[in-house]
Parts: sequence; structure tokens; C-alpha cells
Amino acid sequence: MMRLMRKDDYSSLVDLWSSFSGTTMTGADSRAGFERFLERNGEYCFIVHLNDRIVGSVMAGHDSRRGYIYHLAVDESLQGEGTGTELLNAAESALRKAGIEKAHLFIYTDNSAIKFYEKTGWHRRHDIAVMSKVLVGEQYLGTRTEN
Ligand SMILES: CC(C)(COP(=O)(O)OP(=O)(O)OC[C@H]1O[C@@H](n2cnc3c(N)ncnc32)[C@H](O)[C@@H]1OP(=O)(O)O)[C@@H](O)C(=O)NCCC(=O)NCCS
Repeated sequence: MMRLMRKDDYSSLVDLWSSFSGTTMTGADSRAGFERFLERNGEYCFIVHLNDRIVGSVMAGHDSRRGYIYHLAVDESLQGEGTGTELLNAAESALRKAGIEKAHLFIYTDNSAIKFYEKTGWHRRHDIAVMSKVLVGEQYLGTRTEN
């Protein structure tokens, strides 16, 4: 069953996201950061639950110009059954309804989920490089930092 994400989903979501070795959690994923994102973008964030357990998530949002997708994840035991597509479609529809014409997402180049996104209509950009700057905290030290 899918529903909008809520602030009290935080702990269960951290459990889900931490179950993937490739997922990095940063300051933006603190409880306060999570709540702030939901306050601004709650209508674009969804979870899927099964017997009261959260088994899927997507956090989408926009800055009025472009949409962004974060934390699309499906419990490993339920992958390959269409849940990821369902979550992504929900986020895309919600952004579309808000008048957003295009969305972007950041993904590590070695993440096999790139194939998933290609199957769901996303295309990989070769004409854009992502540039980042840490505004609060330590500068990039050579370990992965999230988008
Ligand atoms: C990416 C992810 C959300 C996909 O969820 P899912 O529920 O398995 O996706 P679906 O069942 O809707 O898959 C749709 C299609 O993509 C394919 N696909 C899904 N994940 C894939 C992967 N990692 N590699 C290749 N193909 C993949 C499926 O086989 C399916 O293909 P089909 O239509 O030909 O049958 C899930 O694999 C996941 O949680 N990965 C770990 C977290 C992650 O890396 N998220 C992305 C961060 S940006």
C-alpha cells in the first residue's frame, strides 16, 4: 500500500536506507533535515508499507523550476516486483501536477539502478558535470558524500 510519507516514518526509513551498502547518509538525512524537507516537499514524498513495515520510499521535491528525486529505495526482498516503478511514477505525477516540466536525480556511476532508471524513461546525461561545494561542515575528503 502506498501513502504519503510522514515525519514519524523517519526511524523506519533510516532502517530501510541503511540496508543498502551504496547509500550514504549525510547531514541532510538528520531527523531535522528530514522534517524540513517534508515540510517543504511532503506532497511529493511517498512510502510503500507491507504489514506496517516500510518497504519502499521516494523523496521528491522541487525548487519551482526543476524537480529532484532522492532516496528511491525498495526493500531487497521485494525488488523486481514493480514497487520502484510505482513509487517513481507517484513522485513524477505529483511533480507534474505542480507544473514541473523536468526532473533530475544524482546517482553514482557504478550503481546498477541506472538500468532501472533507463527502463523507466530517464536518460543519462553526458553533457553535464555535477559540481558541488560543502557550505557547512568539513570539505570533501575523498569519501563519498551524497548529493
Ligand atoms: C532501484 C530500485 C528502487 C528499483 O526498485 P524495484 O522495485 O526493484 O524496481 P522495479 O521492480 O519497478 O523494476 C523495473 C525494471 O527495472 C529493472 N531493474 C530494477 N533494478 C535494477 C537494477 N539494479 N539493475 C538492472 N535492472 C533493474 C527491473 O528488472 C525491471 O525490469 P523489467 O521491467 O524488464 O522487468 C531498487 O533496486 C533499490 O532500492 N535499489 C537500491 C537503492 C538504490 O540504489 N536506489 C537508487 C538511488 S538513486
